[in-house]
Amino acid sequence: MAESRDDDPLWGLIRLGSLHTPMAVRVAATLRLVDHIKDGATGPRELAERTGTNPDALARLIRHLVAVGVLAEPERGRLAPTAMGEVLADDHPAAQRAWHDLGEIVARADVGFTRLLDAVRTGRPTYADVYGRPFYDDLAAEPRLRESFESLMACDQHVAYDAPTAAYDWSGVRHVCDVGGGTGGFVAAVARAAPHVTATIVELPGTAQVAREHLAAEGLAERCDVVEGDFFAPLPCKADVMLLSFVLLNWPDEDAARILARCADSLEPGGRILVYERDDLAENAGNERFTELDLRMLVFLGGRLRTRDEWAGLAARAGLAVESVRRLPNPTIPFDLSLIVLAPAEEVS
Ligand SMILES: C[S@@+](CC[C@H](N)C(=O)[O-])C[C@H]1O[C@@H](n2cnc3c(N)ncnc32)[C@H](O)[C@@H]1O
Repeated sequence: MAESRDDDPLWGLIRLGSLHTPMAVRVAATLRLVDHIKDGATGPRELAERTGTNPDALARLIRHLVAVGVLAEPERGRLAPTAMGEVLADDHPAAQRAWHDLGEIVARADVGFTRLLDAVRTGRPTYADVYGRPFYDDLAAEPRLRESFESLMACDQHVAYDAPTAAYDWSGVRHVCDVGGGTGGFVAAVARAAPHVTATIVELPGTAQVAREHLAAEGLAERCDVVEGDFFAPLPCKADVMLLSFVLLNWPDEDAARILARCADSLEPGGRILVYERDDLAENAGNERFTELDLRMLVFLGGRLRTRDEWAGLAARAGLAVESVRRLPNPTIPFDLSLIVLAPAEEVS
């Protein structure tokens, strides 16, 4: 094999196809190696002491993390994070340490990729095959997992919703319903930007309670209500704007169309449905930043990301049409998100 292996297709395939590096990064995240190094434990032995791990095995893990460029060893026995390794610091704004931590929900659900072959054969998620019940049932049964999910979803909440809020004209809007609104970040951003607007969040019970506390802490409880409910059932209120932020990607087309139909049924005349999700442009269908989350949605929930054509088809199933799409940069994550405005089909020329 060539001395420099970076351009070698055989080595390239081995690097892509082997499970050891993704797991090594996850173990580094779980053990908080970068935080310990930044805190002064720069040698493998001190790191083993701090993390309660086997010194020899940890040293070999570290050797691999240096080989793949997550850690560097500027002097023999003294470790430092590389620029990529810095992203694994707990206080990094992208929150990737927690996303890779094997005790947190996303890395836990990623174990479903060990059954990707089943998902590809059947088109169905594998989460329940690994953990005994579907994703959201597991969260409902285990508060620790639900809290982990809420925390990961809300990681950049203080800024994530400013862009879609600023991208829409709220002047004619009286009431907003955030369907599957999580812990209330989007509604809070809208309520701050448009003081005349009132809002209702529809959420599952545990998360609904967290949203209530969050909105009360922000002084928004009088204008923002939280209702425990199921978005597959008739929605509890009418609204001029229905928000669906990172909801439809969780569901296959048949379920997503049912959720959209519930939203359409509860729209006031002239109302609109705003979908906020990862970039949906057709040209990104072959982009790894699109395919990564798309495959996660398949394995976790049987859901999917959608290209622009797929959005048009899904909307049509619920009697809706795409009125506009705006791509919005996000300050803390390396991909754009889109605000997709859906309207009753007869109102879109
Ligand atoms: C990916 S999270 C997105 C949360 C939030 N909209 C955001 O932008 O961060 C999807 C949300 O849908 C909620 N959810 C899942 N199934 C639901 C159901 N049947 N009815 C209501 N909410 C549901 C979950 O509790 C979760 O908060």
